[in-house]
Amino acid sequence: MDGQRACAMTVNSFSSVSLEPALILWSIARDSARYELFRNTPAFGINVLASDQEMLSTLCAREDSLELTGAKWTQRESGALFVEGAIARFDCRTTAIHEAGDHDIIVAEVLDFDTPRDVSPLVFNRSSYFQI
Ligand SMILES: Cc1cc2nc3c(=O)[nH]c(=O)nc-3n(C[C@H](O)[C@H](O)[C@H](O)COP(=O)(O)O)c2cc1C
Repeated sequence: MDGQRACAMTVNSFSSVSLEPALILWSIARDSARYELFRNTPAFGINVLASDQEMLSTLCAREDSLELTGAKWTQRESGALFVEGAIARFDCRTTAIHEAGDHDIIVAEVLDFDTPRDVSPLVFNRSSYFQI
């Protein structure tokens, strides 16, 4: 959240890092208009989109505002946003940020998660979306 604004960004750099403690990472371009927002937020949600959420992925690459996408979401106590329709959702708290080339790697602890849908994930490869 940025004040009362629900913000989002499409990323495919998300990866698992550690099991104990549960850590994940993703990277953000330092020249992104969303850089300051995501660098400074103490908590955020990771939403793994389902194969029927291609439009949401496209819109969140274009717009930083979840409100403009038509998506529905819930806000966790931490501030993380869980999007309706996602297949896995992680409530994350940033623990470290590392500079890496023109991106920063954001490492975060997973405080909680759920897996509300048992359907295929949305896959992005060679600049196109796929279903598996
Ligand atoms: C499938 C996909 C994956 C992306 N992954 C990342 C990513 O891991 N990190 C990143 O900084 N931007 C990523 N982007 C780009 C952002 O979603 C967004 O388009 C970009 O930040 C727009 O610029 P702005 O932040 O200046 O508005 C990805 C875009 C797409 C479509």
